[in-house]
Amino acid sequence: NKGNFEHYMQKEIHEQPESLTTTMRGRLLRGGSCKAKTVLLGGLKDHLKTIRRSRRIVFIGCGTSYNAALAARPILEELSGIPVTMEIASDLLDRQGPIYREDTAVFVSQSGETADTLSALDYALENGALCVGITNTVGSAIARKTHCGVHINAGAEIGVASTKAYTSQIVVMAMLALAIGGDTISNQARREAIIDGLFDLPNKVREVLKLDQVMKDLAKQLIAEQSLLVFGRRYNYATALEGALKVKEVALMHSEGILAGEMKHGPLALVDENLPIFVIATHDACFSKQQSVIQQLHARKGRLIVMCSKGEAASVCPEEWESCRVIEVPQLEDCLQPVVNIVPLQLLAYHLTVLRGFNVDQPRNLAKSVTTQ
Ligand code: UD1
Ligand code: BG6
Repeated sequence: NKGNFEHYMQKEIHEQPESLTTTMRGRLLRGGSCKAKTVLLGGLKDHLKTIRRSRRIVFIGCGTSYNAALAARPILEELSGIPVTMEIASDLLDRQGPIYREDTAVFVSQSGETADTLSALDYALENGALCVGITNTVGSAIARKTHCGVHINAGAEIGVASTKAYTSQIVVMAMLALAIGGDTISNQARREAIIDGLFDLPNKVREVLKLDQVMKDLAKQLIAEQSLLVFGRRYNYATALEGALKVKEVALMHSEGILAGEMKHGPLALVDENLPIFVIATHDACFSKQQSVIQQLHARKGRLIVMCSKGEAASVCPEEWESCRVIEVPQLEDCLQPVVNIVPLQLLAYHLTVLRGFNVDQPRNLAKSVTTQ
């Protein structure tokens, strides 16, 4: 049921304040005056000790689910102190990459049925790793075969391009980082700030959804383009990859997510006055590096669209740069910022698709769940 919406993808983008609330329901505890704020993931509580003792955490997934894990990687590394590596399921299988008994392998999959991810799970089970699932589908193959896990509880997702599952996956993995990371005095303030940020997240997403018309206007300007680059770094490297994936999946436009730190090692050669470039430059510890990236792209006459934190337009794009467009989004704790930042890109991909006359909910050649290898 699409309710008042024209397409499932549109409905699923707009219901994210509610799906995120459901994902967090019963799992965030804000105790009384003397009790610390904490996280409770029922499916993991008996396994946390084993996970904390593991030598490495390996995230394994495909497509959007892989990108969600990439967004959560920095906070998991920070709070757990355990090395976190990333595997695209098919690539792990192609390489028969090493997986050890001392590893915790985390399988991220909206459907819980993706063939590559499922085969990688069989492979990790054979190699003796502790296997954890993060899925949206109770009773799915991945939920059943993993030793333990967390359901993201985002509700059924119908649109082939994943939107609300992506943001709920990031939130579950941020909660996973809080659950694994010890409750030490030194990280108490950080943990509390993240938990407060989680409580506030649905409101922030509600606020960023008000950019719908702004993103539709931008889509009108980009309707006939051949290509769109998306630059991001750190927490928002994943946003760049996921934003580009949305644009190529549904709007059928070439788009590439680029790690901003790699700009000089190739991508800069593409910059001219025609190619649109979307730069994610919301405020965090890497902000000054992103400002410098923007300046270098501008110096080469890049056609810039910059996403920045509310109130910071002038520090990313001086008034005299007439061709530069700015999208301001609400700021929140850095590790949760990707949840807000992906929303304008989801809206852009959606409107581009409708304006270009393509099928939003069932893009050409793609399937919601890829159950064959
Ligand atoms: C569970 C109940 C929920 C109830 C809550 C009350 C289910 C599915 N969930 O939620 O309805 O409101 O207790 O405390 O009955 N699992 C895997 N692999 C996965 C995902 C999950 O093995 O990929 C396992 C978990 O380890 C756990 C079980 O499935 O044993 C349920 O997981 P989850 O729904 O996340 O647990 P709760 O949030 O505690
Ligand atoms: C398919 C979908 O390719 O599978 C993508 O079209 C999705 O949207 C990918 O990200 C992985 O699916 P899942 O269910 O394992 O998260």
